Amino acid sequence: MAPAWLSAPRAAVSLLDGAPASRFRSEPPARVVAVVFRPRTTGVSVAAQRRVVAVATETAPAARGDEVGTPFMEEMRAAAMRLHSRDQAARDGKKEAQAPMEPPIAKWQPTVEGYLRFLVDSKLVFETLEAIVDRAAIPWYAEFRDTGLERSEPLGKDLEWFRQQGHAIPEPSAPGTTYASFLEELSEKDPQAFVCHFYNVYFAHTAVGRIIGEKVAEKINLQKELEFYKWEGDLSQMQQNVRARLNRVASGWSRAEKNRCLGEMEKAFTYSVDLRRHIFMFP
Ligand code: HEM
Repeated sequence: MAPAWLSAPRAAVSLLDGAPASRFRSEPPARVVAVVFRPRTTGVSVAAQRRVVAVATETAPAARGDEVGTPFMEEMRAAAMRLHSRDQAARDGKKEAQAPMEPPIAKWQPTVEGYLRFLVDSKLVFETLEAIVDRAAIPWYAEFRDTGLERSEPLGKDLEWFRQQGHAIPEPSAPGTTYASFLEELSEKDPQAFVCHFYNVYFAHTAVGRIIGEKVAEKINLQKELEFYKWEGDLSQMQQNVRARLNRVASGWSRAEKNRCLGEMEKAFTYSVDLRRHIFMFP
């Protein structure tokens, strides 16, 4: 069966196929970018399916937030969506844009071997995040235990399924091991920056991760919905709970600490894209 289908908005669809997107605008005069995300999974309320989940202003993060009491997760989300806009500008061939981080998903030519490498590396990254918050060397990391978003166990089941189908399961490779050690170190040195990676790894997986799962399954003719793309319970509710926990933790941070977290966004994107190289640049 195909993985849970995710109905991406027009803007996101254009990120998939490289066509211009009017909503993911990259430059002024766009002041507001609104993105509608409609997961068509069971257990997701109609209200949740229709909600507008992102309003990203072009205002600098430091100028917002504190004074108006904006929950920090809105700043985080806006910063993430700004990077999507920038990447879209690159895909649209805008002169001032940098090179896109990765090719549009529609153009990927994945193989089972490449996908397996990605799954193995992803498992290592999720295991690392989960171990860090379990250990809670920084006491407030404990807030991020048992969110329901954990992925290392489902990934273990998926890899076992592939093994039973006769596939050799590779050892973790450089993108996974490099990111895992980076996260270990960062979690001790710079907790606020670590939170940026925590947010991106989990929330990007529920957004573009599911789109990728769908597209790759089609292309490699995978006759199974992987556990990686299934959550026990209401996903949108779990996301809301995690956002609330992140907001609670960040409410105790200074402006400088919040900015350190926001400033880590680009690095989080780069590491994530690196993990996916096995799928879009195999062999
Ligand atoms: C092919 C590239 C990508 C596509 C097509 C894509 C697509 C999307 C879509 C459709 C959403 C949902 C927007 C919404 O909820 O309204 C989203 C959100 C998001 N994406 Fe991406 N994305 C891509 C790359 C990335 C990368 C590399 C990262 C970094 C790890 C990332 C991080 C996020 C985050 C953090 C959110 C916000 C989630 C939330 O707060 O609900 N995305 N993306």
